[in-house]
Amino acid sequence: MSIDVVTVDGPAGAGKSVATRALASRLGIEYLNTGAMYRAIALKALRLGLDLQNEELLNKVARESTLESRQGRTFLDGEDVTDAVRAQEISRLVRYPAGAPSVRETLVELQRKIGLERPIATEGRDQGTVVFPDAACKFYLTASPEERARRRLGELERRGESAPFEEVLAQIVERDRGDSNREIGPLREPEDAIRVESDGKSIEQVVGEMERAARERLSFLRR
Ligand code: DC
Repeated sequence: MSIDVVTVDGPAGAGKSVATRALASRLGIEYLNTGAMYRAIALKALRLGLDLQNEELLNKVARESTLESRQGRTFLDGEDVTDAVRAQEISRLVRYPAGAPSVRETLVELQRKIGLERPIATEGRDQGTVVFPDAACKFYLTASPEERARRRLGELERRGESAPFEEVLAQIVERDRGDSNREIGPLREPEDAIRVESDGKSIEQVVGEMERAARERLSFLRR
């Protein structure tokens, strides 16, 4: 029996957030950003001045915090932290909670609970493999490292920052390596996922492709 969950996994910079948010909106279901949950734990630990390498403390934070997702936004203890967790410093520190097995266990349990309560479109690295192996519709959204580096550079430039292309590309390759080599919940392409390559495609094309596939697979959307 499959459950009415759409999973979107893939490497950093493949366009998962934009595509998953748009897809959820078109399907009329909730959007869950699981990366933001790991980021929120890093943010709280940072604010508390904790040692982020201390797994026990990190998991205590994860267990004792209220993490919620409402209308696609992430709330930490009632505070909307959607924008705060995107800070560069958090991007740098998130590897600690993401690499801590006990924190992953805590957050995976929470993600499952959210997905069993209502239909969701959820994005991350392990959604189709570990969290929702029975999801009705799985995507693996990817793009070449060069394409992802170009997008990341565009994003930086829009924020008035800049960096050499080679440096941005090297960061992307390094992040891929970290995400793929993690022992628990590594980035893997689910065997039963639909692979969507976003190189040279517009958001509209990508989301259209995903929406058609999702409508065929989600039982409550089939008439
Ligand atoms: O997608 P993102 O950049 O917001 O993810 C932040 C970090 O969390 C990234 O290093 C990968 C990790 N992550 C994870 O390990 N498992 C998930 N389900 C989602 C994100």
